[in-house]
Amino acid sequence: MKAINSIKLEFPSKSSNESFARAAAAAFAAQLDPTMEELGDLRTAVSEAVTNAIVHAYPDSIGVICMKLRILEGGVFEVSVRDWGRGIDDLEKARPGRGRRS
Ligand SMILES: Nc1ncnc2c1ncn2[C@@H]1O[C@H](COP(=O)(O)OP(=O)(O)O)[C@@H](O)[C@H]1O
Ligand SMILES: [Mg+2]
Repeated sequence: MKAINSIKLEFPSKSSNESFARAAAAAFAAQLDPTMEELGDLRTAVSEAVTNAIVHAYPDSIGVICMKLRILEGGVFEVSVRDWGRGIDDLEKARPGRGRRS
């Protein structure tokens, strides 16, 4: 689908950049006039994905993380977080709701 507006951010996998990514996504999404609840959900999703890249993708080194934010027609907001790290051994374990329970 064609994006009405988009942004791409590339940053090193330092834990200090996690809050930056969260704030940047929320600031970009503000143009859609989201509710506080929607903004909270977005911040949580970005935080989880970026933290995964920092902690799991590059456990012993600093690597590149790329976050893409897109606004599509109909007010759809799309976020992708990409890394070039160690990869996911067990995809089933990584699926939402299928991880370890605590
Ligand atoms: N970006 C990533 N690179 C490598 N492995 C990942 C990545 N994201 C998730 N994983 C794997 O999927 C598992 C589940 O991730 P998640 O549901 O976020 O739980 P948690 O981070 O608490 O372990 C992780 O423990 C890890 O093994
Ligand atoms: Mg995680």
